[in-house]
Amino acid sequence: MSRLIVVSNRVSVDKGRGATGAQGGLAVAMNGALRQHGGIWFGWSGEEVEHFTGQLTMARADGFTTATIDLEPQDVEEYYNGYANRTLWPLFHYRIDLAEYENEFGRGYERVNEQFANSLIPLVEADDLVWVQDYHFLPLGERLRAHGLRNRIGLFLHIPWPPTRLLVSLPFHERLVEAMLHYDVIGFQSVEWLESFLHYCRKELDAEVDEDSGTVRIGGRTATAHAFPIGIDHGEFMALGGTATAQRAHDRLAGSARNRTVVIGVDRLDYSKGLPERIDAMERLFATQDDMVNRLLYVQIAPPSREDVRSYQEIRATLEQKTGQFNGAHSDVDLVPIRYVNRGFDRAELFGFYRAAKIGLVTPIRDGMNLVAKEYVAAQAPDDPGVLILSRFAGAAEQLTDALLVNPLNHEEVTRALWTALHMPLDERKARWDTLNAVVRDRDVIGWAEDFIAALKG
Ligand code: ADP
Ligand code: G6P
Repeated sequence: MSRLIVVSNRVSVDKGRGATGAQGGLAVAMNGALRQHGGIWFGWSGEEVEHFTGQLTMARADGFTTATIDLEPQDVEEYYNGYANRTLWPLFHYRIDLAEYENEFGRGYERVNEQFANSLIPLVEADDLVWVQDYHFLPLGERLRAHGLRNRIGLFLHIPWPPTRLLVSLPFHERLVEAMLHYDVIGFQSVEWLESFLHYCRKELDAEVDEDSGTVRIGGRTATAHAFPIGIDHGEFMALGGTATAQRAHDRLAGSARNRTVVIGVDRLDYSKGLPERIDAMERLFATQDDMVNRLLYVQIAPPSREDVRSYQEIRATLEQKTGQFNGAHSDVDLVPIRYVNRGFDRAELFGFYRAAKIGLVTPIRDGMNLVAKEYVAAQAPDDPGVLILSRFAGAAEQLTDALLVNPLNHEEVTRALWTALHMPLDERKARWDTLNAVVRDRDVIGWAEDFIAALKG
C-alpha cells in the first residue's frame, strides 16, 4: 500500500484538546484519515524562527509521523496572516469587502510555497501519494513539479470556491489557478464549488473542460476535479459519546439550563460563521414572543481564531458588544439568555453539549462544508433527537437536506426556523434525524479519504 504524505499549513495532532482553542474541520479530518492510513503529515510547526532554515522536526503520532518546519515572522505575516487569511479566505467566503490585495502578501505566499516544496522533496519516496490540503497551498503542486517530483499529487480545498465574477477581482488570478492545474486531482467539498471552478477554468483560462468527468486540459496537462464532501470520524466521535466526560458535560449544561430549551452554536470566531446575524435572529424572537427568557438558552461556544488579523479582532469586538447588549436587555436577575464562551473544549465535552441542546444553530454566511452540523446530528439521542437549523450556504446543505435550511442573512427566516424547531413534534424530529444521521454515519471521514485516495491513485 502506498504511503500517504499529507501537507497542510497546520499540523494539529489530536490529543483530546483541552482549553487550547479552535481546531478547525481540516485538523479533525486529517487526524482521522492519517490514523487509518499511516504516512507523514507535513506542515508548519506554528513556531517562528529568526532565519528560515527548512530544518525538519520529526515526531511520532498515533499511527503516523509528523514533520514540521518553522517559519520566519515575515513569512507568517505575509503568507499566513496576509495572503491566506486577508486575501484568499475573505474572497473565497464572498467577503470581497474584507479582501486585501497587497503585493507583499502574494510574494510571501509564493516564497513559502517554494520553501515547503524544498523541504518536502527529500521526504517523498517513489510510490508515495502526496495529498495537499487547503487554500494555503494552491501553487504547491506546481512548485513540486518544478523540482521534478513525478508522484501523483492531489489537492483538497476545504473552503468554498468563489464564483468567477468574484475571483477575477484577485490580481494574478490566472496564474494562481493555472498553477493549481499541476495537481492530478483537485477535490472540492460540494458540487456547487466544483461547478464554479470548472466554469472559471473554461471562461478565464480557456481550458478544455469536460463537465461530466471533471477533467480540465491545459498546456498538455490534465487535472481531474471532483466533489468529495468531507465527513466526521463517526466511529471515534460516537465512542467519545460513551465517556464519563461527555456525560458530565451533558449533565452540567442540561442541569444549568433549568428547563429552558438549549440552542447551541460551536464555531471558530470567524466572520464567515454568521454569528452577529444569529444574535439578530434571537433579538427578533425575543422581541416578538413572550417570556422567551424562561424558555430558551442560547449557548455560543466561539474560540478566538487568527487573532493577528484585524477583521477577526473586529468580529470579536462586535460579538462582545452584541451579546452584552442582548443580555442587558433580555436577562432577568437569575436568568441570562446568551452564554457566550470564548474557548475550546475537549471533543467529548462538545459531544455532551450537543446532546444537551435541542436545537443546533449552524448558520454560516459561507462555509466549505461545516463539520459542526454533522457532529451535532451524530450526538443526538435517537429516541429524542434535537433539530438542526442549517445555512443553505454551507457545503453541508447539499447533503443535509432534512435540516431546517435557512438563509442566514434573512433574520425573519432564522427566527421562524427557531420557532418551528422549538415546537417540532417528536415524530417529525425523529424522521428528519433518521435521514440526517444516515448521511453523517455513512459518509464519514474514512470513506471521504478512501474516495480521494482512490481518485489520486488514478
Ligand atoms: P472550520 O473548519 O471553519 O473551523 P468546521 O465546522 O468544519 O469549521 O470544523 C470545526 C471543527 O472544530 C469541528 O470539528 C468542531 O468540533 C471543532 N471546534 C470548533 N470549536 C471548538 C471548540 N470550542 N472546542 C473544540 N473544538 C472545536
Ligand atoms: C478551516 C480551514 C483550515 C484551518 C482551520 C483553522 O478549517 O479550512 O485550513 O486550519 O480553519 O484555522 P487556522 O488558521 O487556525 O489554521
